[in-house]
Amino acid sequence: MGLFTLPKNSVVQTGKTHPAPESARRVKIVQVYRWDPDAGGNPRLDTYHVDVDRCGPMVLDALIKIKNEIDSTLAFRRSCREGVCGSCAMNIDGRNTLACIKPLSDCGDPVRIHPLPHQPVIKDLVPDLTHFYAQYASVKPWIEAQTPPPADRERLQSKAERAELDGLHECILCACCSTACPSYWWNGDRFLGPAALLQAYRWIADSRDETTGERLDALEDPFKLFRCHTIMNCTDACPKGLNPARAIAEIKKLLVERQK
Ligand code: SF4
Ligand code: SF4
Ligand code: FES
Repeated sequence: MGLFTLPKNSVVQTGKTHPAPESARRVKIVQVYRWDPDAGGNPRLDTYHVDVDRCGPMVLDALIKIKNEIDSTLAFRRSCREGVCGSCAMNIDGRNTLACIKPLSDCGDPVRIHPLPHQPVIKDLVPDLTHFYAQYASVKPWIEAQTPPPADRERLQSKAERAELDGLHECILCACCSTACPSYWWNGDRFLGPAALLQAYRWIADSRDETTGERLDALEDPFKLFRCHTIMNCTDACPKGLNPARAIAEIKKLLVERQK
């Protein structure tokens, strides 16, 4: 069981260690990034020894056990506990993923847990996603249509039209992709990032929407869209198996095609 040591010049300090009870027979070492805005100063990496025989199987189960039984000051987000709300996104052993569907048994020992990278931290594992959500809102994630809907029914789609949305509508806005994207790290103020762009394409691809031209106009910008350099980290990171890089490529293709 090798212990992780921080590089000498790291601003993250080695923090407190919380040993497991003596009765614990199988222990997983969990190292967690801690930063409290009220305390100020540098962040630290606290170490918790978790009795895995008295813990659920997922990383989120370990965090909940730590918060309930060892250290109530730990802050993280979670809601559904089954990979559908996106709130428990964090960086586990260097990869962005959802803590509730990441088995502890698949992690290193120690397992290292940090907040999503390159976002302001509110506290511990809670990133500030205000800008991320504002970028999502900027793509107008709803149907825009001038034609009034039929009086007696909803706007219908054929099965083929509905199938165009597969691989897009499943996005849970967890931000794992955008916060894994180097272009988003450096230009996140103006580049929309893979999550918002996948969502932009989700509405461009919707047969019921009547503003494709305006949507493409809004994206024809050297930063909003074209800062994507097809590095593919986004697709690699998505815990739902989606392909934001393909959605971005489809938008670029539509922009090229309409110039012909
Ligand atoms: S493909 Fe584009 S959006 Fe995805 S990680 Fe690479 S640069 Fe970022
Ligand atoms: S595309 Fe995947 S990684 Fe990105 S926000 Fe949606 S679900 Fe999360
Ligand atoms: S708690 Fe909802 S996705 Fe993990």
